[in-house]
Amino acid sequence: MTTSNSSQKPARETFGRFGALMAMAGSAVGLGNMWRFPYLLGENGGAAFLIIYLLCSLLLALPIFFAEFIVGRRGGSNSIGCFRNLAPGTKWSLVGLVGILTPLIIISFYSVVGGWSIQYLFKACTFQFSHVSDNSQMHDMFSSLVTSVWPALFGFVVFLVLSLLIVRKGVKNGIEKFGNITMPALFVIILLIVVYVLFQPGATGGYKWLFKPDFSVITPGVFAVALGQSFFSLSLGCGCIMTYASYVDKKDDMVIHCTATALLDLLFAILSACAIIPAVFSFGISPDAGPSLIFETLPFIFSKMPAGNVVAIIFFIALLMAVFTSIISMMEAITAVLSEEFGISRSKSLNIIFVFTIIFGSLCSLSFGPLAGFKILDMTIFDLFDRSSSDFLMILGALLTVIFVGWKMKKADVQDEFTMHGARYGRLFKVAYFAIKYVAPAVIIVIFITGLVS
Ligand code: TRP
Repeated sequence: MTTSNSSQKPARETFGRFGALMAMAGSAVGLGNMWRFPYLLGENGGAAFLIIYLLCSLLLALPIFFAEFIVGRRGGSNSIGCFRNLAPGTKWSLVGLVGILTPLIIISFYSVVGGWSIQYLFKACTFQFSHVSDNSQMHDMFSSLVTSVWPALFGFVVFLVLSLLIVRKGVKNGIEKFGNITMPALFVIILLIVVYVLFQPGATGGYKWLFKPDFSVITPGVFAVALGQSFFSLSLGCGCIMTYASYVDKKDDMVIHCTATALLDLLFAILSACAIIPAVFSFGISPDAGPSLIFETLPFIFSKMPAGNVVAIIFFIALLMAVFTSIISMMEAITAVLSEEFGISRSKSLNIIFVFTIIFGSLCSLSFGPLAGFKILDMTIFDLFDRSSSDFLMILGALLTVIFVGWKMKKADVQDEFTMHGARYGRLFKVAYFAIKYVAPAVIIVIFITGLVS
């Protein structure tokens, strides 16, 4: 490995083994699992979508995850530095720019949803859901929040400041410690909700719908949705995994690490679906409400269940934990670039992120209210940020990364990293390398083009 910039680098922090797993799983588990996945399932036909999603995650997203991990740990730096270390003197380091641009865009709209979650936690704690008598009132409550100016902005700023405070404490004391506490807690909370929902009358219809596939509802577009979701959920294509991988100890087994992260991510997605969909069914409501599923349908249902208010409180606490651990991974990816490439201190880097996000995040937030009529390419600012990152930048980042690992890096180096210097996984490497070199780029290009023309 070349370490051309080792002179400029102070010693980097490293994660402990458990902490590394919790941090990566924390990045992966977020709104993608608890908000997007259940409503996509609801909109795209339940069990059949789940099966396609599982296949996409394990056959395609996981090899891409391997590729990002390899660049990160072998490159041992931020996203720009990794490419520079592995391919000195080439333009590849420009690819690392995605490690700053894409997370900045995602943070802006993600924090807005984080802000809604904070406001909903507050509503749950002050028992505001119990006064609601029908679903349309819940709808009004949600739309009056998202279209508002100050309540939405307030939630957003509180969310942003809290996340920055965690990242400010550093990789070991901030990110790792936070993940070590929140991820196991999140698991326990979701499990409790799943068990609680299991005992609600009428919930069984939801399980049937979730686990009994009906392939007639599957169209080619569903594949693209499932694949896009698996990218988003595993935080691929924007430098987050690369940056975190650079903090993972060289002696840790990367195959176990990556596979465990992907499995935990899947587990959280399935558990969230098991908490949400049967609850929706037990009230005879259709699960295809779309993005408002967890902010309208779910609180309404909780308000009608015994002890539902308590369940609503712990649900929104769980949602916030998941969102925090994801947002801090994006902030860290940017902070690493700013501090290591541009010599800006951690706290100054975070101030820069703060100013940028306040400006662009506020625009995203206002795009539901006063700025709703302001459209670029026929999209509101929020949609523009969401779509440009998920449908374009992340996919581009992932494509360039797999091309780099499959076609630019020496196969022996990739193999050395994957197999722990030849000690393990000889056969698995062949399969993974084939997936990284041929399958992933081909599939990504097809989806990219389908996405552009549709
Ligand atoms: N994976 C997270 C989720 O499921 C979101 C996330 C974190 C993300 N970092 C990312 C998405 C980087 C895309 C790129 O909510």
